[in-house]
Amino acid sequence: MSTRKPIIAANWKMNQIPSEARDFLKKFLPKFPAKTSVDIVIAPAFLSMPMSAADILPNPAVDLSAQDMSAEPSGAFTGEISAAMLKEVGTKYVILGHSERRSLFGETDAVINAKVKAALGNKLDPILCIGESLEEREGGKLEEVLRSQVQGSLADVTAEQMANVVIAYEPVWAIGTGVTASPEQAQEAHAFVRSLLKDQFGEAVAAATRIQYGGSVKPGNAAELIALADIDGFLVGGASLEADSFGAIVQAGIDHQG
Ligand code: PGA
Repeated sequence: MSTRKPIIAANWKMNQIPSEARDFLKKFLPKFPAKTSVDIVIAPAFLSMPMSAADILPNPAVDLSAQDMSAEPSGAFTGEISAAMLKEVGTKYVILGHSERRSLFGETDAVINAKVKAALGNKLDPILCIGESLEEREGGKLEEVLRSQVQGSLADVTAEQMANVVIAYEPVWAIGTGVTASPEQAQEAHAFVRSLLKDQFGEAVAAATRIQYGGSVKPGNAAELIALADIDGFLVGGASLEADSFGAIVQAGIDHQG
């Protein structure tokens, strides 16, 4: 049993309209009515968050996450959502720097770093996503890309603040493709990310930080992946949209904890 408590999160992306979110939660939450040996997190779309919070917050096993937020505290930023808004509906986590935010919405490490600091300053726990494209991996740039993402996104974050940061390693080529990183590829990348944390924050932070794997996690591969030394949970997209399949992935984490 790892000393790092696994954290298994559902990233619904732009899926589940509010009524669908409610149907999911009605099926999913009774599966895990009490605290378990893993942290379970659900990240609905912003519009479904208040309604989802009403169902999730009374459940001691599950926490609410956002999928993004603004780095700005308030003001003339049409269409944006602030940390304070997320806090008020009971949000605990916020996914930041997802590869879709990076590639489709042009978010740079500097932008993501500002969001990470704003989240920490508002007592929201960032789930910071990093990961290389296929081109970068095939071009031998895996380590360079991960290093610049970790250093850039976590610039000026203190070792103390790192207690509230979760990292999600998500190789872009594995997201939504059905292609999962092999156990060797995943473990190697996770160990490398942990070594980067050691360089930047020291041994204790590196040993304590939870690093999720993301990219086509399914009930069929979760048990094998969670058994790897440096994998501390999952960020799940497609397979998190059905209560039974997300439930099976969570259960794989619980079974692994023993
Ligand atoms: P996927 O998405 O599980 O559908 O590959 C993971 C993610 O993008 O977080």
